[in-house]
Amino acid sequence: MGIKYLEKERLFKLDTPNSSYVCGVFDSEGFLLHLYYGKRISDDDIRYLTQAYAYPFSPDKNNRDRGMFLDRAFFEYPTEGVGDYRQGCMDAETVNGHRGCSLCYVNHKISKGKPGIAGLPATFDEIPGVTPGEESICETLTITLKDEPTGLTVTLFYSVFEGLDAIVRSVKLENSGTSDLYINKVLSACLELEEGKRDVITLHGSWARERNIERTAISKGIYSIGSIKGESSHQMNPFMAVADRNTTQTQGEIFGLSFVYSGNFTASAECSQFGSPRVLMGINPKGFRWKLEPGSVFNAPEVIMVYSTQGIGHMSRTFHDIMRDHLISGANIRNKFRNSSRPVLINNWEATYFDFDSDKLIAIAKEAAKSGIEMLVMDDGWFGNRSSDDMALGDWYVNEDKIRGGLKKLVDAVRSAGLKFGIWIEPEMISPDSDLYREHPDWAVAIPGRTGTLMRNQYVLDFSRKEIVDEIYSRIKAVLSSADISYVKWDMNRPLSDIGSYALESDRQGELFHRYVLGVYDMMGRLLKDFPDLLLENCSGGGGRFDPGMLYYSPQIWCSDDTDAIERLAIQEGTSMVYPLSTMGAHVSDCPNHVTGRTVPFETRGYVALAGTFGYELDITRISQEDRGRIAGQVEMYHKYNELVRTGDHYRLTSYRENGLNDSWMVVSKDRSKALVTYIKVMARPFKRSVVLKLDGLDPNKDYRISCDKDVLCTDAGERGGNGFTLRGDTLMNAGILINEDSSDMKGDFRGLLIDLTAEDLLG
Ligand code: GLA
Repeated sequence: MGIKYLEKERLFKLDTPNSSYVCGVFDSEGFLLHLYYGKRISDDDIRYLTQAYAYPFSPDKNNRDRGMFLDRAFFEYPTEGVGDYRQGCMDAETVNGHRGCSLCYVNHKISKGKPGIAGLPATFDEIPGVTPGEESICETLTITLKDEPTGLTVTLFYSVFEGLDAIVRSVKLENSGTSDLYINKVLSACLELEEGKRDVITLHGSWARERNIERTAISKGIYSIGSIKGESSHQMNPFMAVADRNTTQTQGEIFGLSFVYSGNFTASAECSQFGSPRVLMGINPKGFRWKLEPGSVFNAPEVIMVYSTQGIGHMSRTFHDIMRDHLISGANIRNKFRNSSRPVLINNWEATYFDFDSDKLIAIAKEAAKSGIEMLVMDDGWFGNRSSDDMALGDWYVNEDKIRGGLKKLVDAVRSAGLKFGIWIEPEMISPDSDLYREHPDWAVAIPGRTGTLMRNQYVLDFSRKEIVDEIYSRIKAVLSSADISYVKWDMNRPLSDIGSYALESDRQGELFHRYVLGVYDMMGRLLKDFPDLLLENCSGGGGRFDPGMLYYSPQIWCSDDTDAIERLAIQEGTSMVYPLSTMGAHVSDCPNHVTGRTVPFETRGYVALAGTFGYELDITRISQEDRGRIAGQVEMYHKYNELVRTGDHYRLTSYRENGLNDSWMVVSKDRSKALVTYIKVMARPFKRSVVLKLDGLDPNKDYRISCDKDVLCTDAGERGGNGFTLRGDTLMNAGILINEDSSDMKGDFRGLLIDLTAEDLLG
């Protein structure tokens, strides 16, 4: 690991274990050009690479053709308006309405550690398991650039982390001039890649179908994704990877970018006239206009860039590691759930919807306790006169018609049944039919004089206004302080529209989207400061705000309202491409599934939920005796494997999305002594079938004792299944294991199994 400045060459070089990133200062004006990002290289002078696209148009040699240079060179932080016609990172406007910016080097600094970003989530510097701040494993390069005519100063930050093939970038703007500036666009990262046959990989979806993997060839033009919904959205996730056309799970080059932000974003890959892609990521410029007064500062959020030559899998594992060790729960680094197992919960949403009272909840808690479930979560419907999703958002007072005797009485009863207690909130929202709205109709995000668009019969509160955040927070805080509450599910059930704030000046209305996100982060920060032991789970109509920004506050996020185990295979596959398994809210729910109507064996629903945080979303007092009887075993399974699932390295083995037949993944402990394989047979096929499953991530030289929870692994040339046998890692990864799908335990669709591998040397 390390960051160097090669003085003679004026090059900056960032090395990670397997990658190098090089940029440098050029010609007398001091343009900051990008030279290289790829497999690790020596500290040679590679300035000749600038000539690949810009030759011979360097302005200090040929100012006559300056525009040629601007439109061809690989820029570290390209700007718009002065001759680079590709998409840029920066569009600044003066009070006279002129738009142009050209950034040149001023100075730089290389320092130990990593600074935070005021008001925003950001990766932090900490050695796993060591007290924060004791010893630094990060280095940061800070490069300051300036646009002389406007006085706009742009500082680029780059941090590297020991042992990780990742570089984290962010940008700070400062108006060091004398007049106001309007920033129409400020992105956080640009990556210029050389020409080649490449694909772009993104995660797209909709409500109940979040983060499905999309892979498509980069061709001439611009491939762009983003959100303008005020949240990262169900439709597109703030992630983009660029991979070689031949890159697979296990081999090939891939560059991944993930945006640590929960609001509007853009990510694009533009193929230049010479076929070289320029990849950009940052706050979506649509709807964004920030007034930067002299002396004031704007911080653009972070982008995590990951490089892998070992395929998609290594990229995913690097994202998992950096998020687990340097991002999750950064707002409350001492939160006990950051690095530990979470209670198995039962949530009453699919069990009761709005139709519940304290007796019903206590009955669920008592029954759940018998099976070892550890927490009851009371979902939507406990406050104001909320009897459906048509009313009462904002009226954060306990409804004592339902919660008889008050919240404390209920919580005490649940606790004496042996369960912790969690609660649902949706603080960013306001129902037109609420006391809050009747009192403060101007608190909603709205365009004065225009009837706002309702979604789920609700409006969004203007969280850009501190007094609104203060009032909502004080109501929520009073509820949380009134009883022993261990968990909060923070929901957000509609995006923003009708963008207008009653408080912002006319030339600041374009700041609303970003200020809104800052308001949300502010309230989450306050919540975690006042309730440091709280387990916070984010949610947005399922997984509409599953992003790295939210993980800074909550170690887990509800993946999707689609709890159908088979649908979840694709959702969880896409999610785990970027996000650690420990973050994926996944529950066993009742069948026929409420979203799809499909029936999947209870056991299989448990296997699928095991890849996430694990819990239940059903009425345990009403499901069949047989299903109820399986819960204790599943809870035991969760406890047995959660450490491995939470902290291990994740390997995708097969994908139902790709093969239409089965889905499997495994997790391997960091020391490669233990592993867990999950295999789901989705589609039964005619005729006698056995499936070869090649494992991954094991130590090729270790012997592993294999046990499966079904007698379906073939161990000899005969017909039967076996268990408790031993194979070496190289055999398991190259020859594979054989699963007899025809055995009675695996007959039919939607059957699954777990395989446990333990290194013999661990067994002694
Ligand atoms: C959203 C969530 C659900 C549930 C409902 C309650 O849709 O995703 O899990 O909490 O809101 O209204």
